[in-house]
Amino acid sequence: MLGWVSEADPALFRAFPALADVVPWLPLGRFPTRVERLSGLVPPSVELWIKRDDESGTVYGGNKVRKLEFLLADARLKGARRLVTLGGIGSHHVLATAIYGRAAGFEVDAVVFPQPLNDHVREQLLADSAVGATLWPTRGYLGVPWTVWRRRRAADAAWVASGGSSPVGTIGYVSAGLELLEQIARAELPRPDVIYLALGSCGTAAGLLTGLAGAPSLPRLDATLVGVRVVDRPVSNARVTRRLAARTAALLAGHGEKWFNHLALPPLRVEHRFFGGAYGRATPAAEEAVERAAFVGLRLEPTYTGKAMAALLADAAAGLLDGKRVLFVHTYNGVDLAPLVRKGVGASALPPRLRRHFDAGALPPGR
Ligand SMILES: Cc1ncc(COP(=O)(O)O)c(C=O)c1O
Repeated sequence: MLGWVSEADPALFRAFPALADVVPWLPLGRFPTRVERLSGLVPPSVELWIKRDDESGTVYGGNKVRKLEFLLADARLKGARRLVTLGGIGSHHVLATAIYGRAAGFEVDAVVFPQPLNDHVREQLLADSAVGATLWPTRGYLGVPWTVWRRRRAADAAWVASGGSSPVGTIGYVSAGLELLEQIARAELPRPDVIYLALGSCGTAAGLLTGLAGAPSLPRLDATLVGVRVVDRPVSNARVTRRLAARTAALLAGHGEKWFNHLALPPLRVEHRFFGGAYGRATPAAEEAVERAAFVGLRLEPTYTGKAMAALLADAAAGLLDGKRVLFVHTYNGVDLAPLVRKGVGASALPPRLRRHFDAGALPPGR
C-alpha cells in the first residue's frame, strides 16, 4: 500500500490513514456502493433505503467482495499460492473466492457440502467450474473436517474461513460501516433507525457493527442492526457476531489503531423466525419477498436476502417500523452469471458426485 489514500480506497483507510500502511489490501471491487431510497415495497409510513452492495463488483458483486479484498491480500502476503475454503454446493462465498482468487493468480480448492438443490445452486456449480475452481464435495457435514484437513495440508495453501468471516475478512465490513457513515456525513443518506441484513457466518454484521461505532472524524450511528439468521443457530447468533466484532477490533488495534481498543457497538437484534429449519431451504415468506422485491426492481434470492427481506416486510406489515427510516443491505451479487457459465464446459467438468445433480434436467439458459 502507498502511504496516501484516495476516493477509490476503502473508507477504513480514509478514517484511519495509518492503517493503509499496515493492513494488506487488494482492490477488487467498485466502492463506495450507492445508497438509494426505494418506494412501493413497504407502506408509506416506512422510509426504506437500500445499500447497493449487489453492485460491489463488475465481474461479481455482493457482500463477499469487500471481505476478499482483505483476505486475498493477506494470503498473498503470506506467500500462499492456493486458497482453500468451504461452503454449501451453492455457496456465493465459494464462487466469489473462485472468481477473484483465480483472477488474482491463486489455485482455488473448495470443499462443498450438500444443500437443497435448485437451478440457482446448479448455476453456482457451473460458474465455480467455469472459472477453474477445484471442488471437493462431501456426502454431508460429517465429511467436512477430514476433507478440509486434507486440502489445508498443502504447503502453499491459505485457509479462507467459511463465508470469508475471519477477522481479516470482517475488516471489509468495518470499512462498509465507515463508508455508510461517510454517506450520512455527505447527506446522501439520512440517519437510519434500523438496518436489516442476512446473518450467515456473521462477518457482514460483525464488521458493520464495528464500523458504525464511528471514527475520530465520523460520528457513530446508533441504529439497531437486525441480523436475520439463515443458517443453523450454533454458528449464527448474537454471541458469535459480537465475538467476531471484538476479534476484528482487536486485530485492528493490534495494527496500532488505539481507537479500536474501547468500542461501544450499536445494538444488535438477531431475528430467528425466518430461517425455515435448514440452510438453503426455501420458505414461502422468502419466496414471496423475492417476488415482491423483483416487482420494484430488486433482484434477491431465497437463501439469504429473501429471508432478510421477508423479516423486514413482516415487521413493516405489523406496524413495527411505522415512522422509522429503514436501511436494507443488499448483499447478493447483481451481475448476470450466464455469460460466465457459457464460457465453461458445463457439468462434465464437475466431480461425479456433483455431476449427477445435472442428470435429471439441464440448467435453463441464464437468469
Ligand atoms: C447473498 C448473501 N447475503 C448475506 C450473506 C451472509 O453474510 P455473512 O456470512 O457475512 O453473515 C451471504 C453469505 O454467504 C450471502 O451470500
